[in-house]
Amino acid sequence: IKDRNYVIIGAVLVFRDITEKNKLLEISQRNQKLESLGILAGGIAHDFNNLMGGIFGNIDLALHESKECKVTQFLSLAMNTIDRARGLTQQLLTFAKGGAPVQKPAYLFPLIQEIAQFTLSGSSVSCQYDIAPDLWPCSIDKDQIGQVVSNIIINAQQAMPSGGGIEITAANVSMGEKEHESLQKGEYVKVTIRDHGVGISKKILPHIFDPFFTTKMMGHGLGLSTCHSIINRHGGAIDVESKMDEGSTFCFYLPAASKPVVSKPVSDVRHMGSGRIIIMDDEEIIRGTLRNMLESLGYSVICTNNGWEAVEFYAKETKSNRQIAAVFFDLTVRNGMDGKVAVKEIRKLNSKIPVFVASGYANDPVMKNPVEYGFSASIGKPFRMMELAEILEKHVKENSEKSGTNRNGI
Ligand SMILES: Nc1ncnc2c1ncn2[C@@H]1O[C@H](COP(=O)(O)OP(=O)(O)OP(=O)(O)O)[C@@H](O)[C@H]1O
Ligand SMILES: [Mg+2]
Repeated sequence: IKDRNYVIIGAVLVFRDITEKNKLLEISQRNQKLESLGILAGGIAHDFNNLMGGIFGNIDLALHESKECKVTQFLSLAMNTIDRARGLTQQLLTFAKGGAPVQKPAYLFPLIQEIAQFTLSGSSVSCQYDIAPDLWPCSIDKDQIGQVVSNIIINAQQAMPSGGGIEITAANVSMGEKEHESLQKGEYVKVTIRDHGVGISKKILPHIFDPFFTTKMMGHGLGLSTCHSIINRHGGAIDVESKMDEGSTFCFYLPAASKPVVSKPVSDVRHMGSGRIIIMDDEEIIRGTLRNMLESLGYSVICTNNGWEAVEFYAKETKSNRQIAAVFFDLTVRNGMDGKVAVKEIRKLNSKIPVFVASGYANDPVMKNPVEYGFSASIGKPFRMMELAEILEKHVKENSEKSGTNRNGI
C-alpha cells in the first residue's frame, strides 16, 4: 500500500487455505483410478464368471445325481471351493460397470464377528469387541461388507506376524454438516478396527487405497482399493490412522438404514415341473448347463443363441398354439439382440409368460429391478439348482394358476 507520494506504507497479505481443495482433488483422482481398474476387472470377471458357471452347474448336477457316498463327498468338496471362487469373481465384478451393491437393511453384528472369526481361524491373532447394544441397522450388501471386513482383518493379521490382538468397536454416529470431508449430514454406524502391528509410514499412507499398491511380496494391492470402492458405493467413507511400530486403525462409516430388517426364511424348495422352456445365451457352456439343470427338474429345453432367434421361435410356437412354459434370457450377448430388448418383443405377444433374466452382473439395474424392464424375475450367474428351482416354483406355478391352466402352464 502506497501513500499519495508513492511511499510504501503497508502491505496486504492474502492467505488461502488450499488443504480442503487438495483433499477433494486427491479424492477425485483416487476415484478415477478405481474406475479404470473397474473397467479392466469387469471385462475379465464377466468371461471368467461364465466359464465358472459351466463348471459350477455341472458339478452341482453331478452332486444331485450321485449315489456313491465317496463321489458325493468329493463333489461336495469341489462345490465348496467353487463357492469360494464364486466369491472371488464377485469381488472382481464389484469393480465392474453396474457393480452397485444390492443393499438390504441388516445388522452389522454378528456378521462382522463371524467374518473376523472365520478370517482368523487357526491364527495367533484374536479379536476383542465393544459393540453399542442399540446399534442401528444399515442398508448393506452383506457379501460386499464381508469382503471389506475380511480385507482389513487380513491386513491387520499380516501386520502382526507374531500374533496379537485386534480391537473392533461399533457405535451409532449422528454426523453434522461438513463434519466429515466426504460424508453428508445424517445417521451412520461407525466401525473401528485397530491393530497393534508394524504401522504404516507417513510416506506410503496416502497410497494405501490405490489399486495395485502393495508393500508385500505376495500382495496384489487390491484389498484396500476394494474396501474403498465398496464403502463409497454404500454412501459411506473409510479412514485410516497409523503410527509406525504402534499399529493402525481403520474405521468405516455406513449410512444407517431407514427401513427395518426383514429376515428371509431359509429356502428348501423341491420343485418338479414340466413343459417347454426357451433359453437364450451366447455362451455354449451356460446353455448346456442350464439345459441340464432344467431337464433334471422335469422340463424340456429349446436353446437359442440370441434374442432374435428366441423371439422368432416363440412367435412361431404361439401362432401354432403350442405352449411355452417360460423363457430364460441372458442380459448381455456379444452379437445380436440381448435379453433387455428381447423381453419387450415377447411382451408384445404375451404379457403373462414368465421371462427370466440371468447375468453375472448381479448389480445391474435390470437385475435389481427386473419387473421394471418387463421380466418376471432375475437370477445371478452362476446359480445353483436350488436358486433355479426357487424362481421356477414361484413364477411358473403362479403363472399357470393365473392363466387357469394346470401347473407349469401346460
Ligand atoms: N493394518 C495394516 N498395517 C500395516 N500396513 C498396512 C495395513 N493395512 C494395509 N497396509 C499397507 O497398505 C498396503 C495396501 O494394502 P492392500 O490390502 O490394499 O494390499 P495388500 O495387502 O498389499 O495386497 P492384497 O490385499 O491385494 O493381498 C499394504 O501392502 C501395506 O503396506
Ligand atoms: Mg490386503
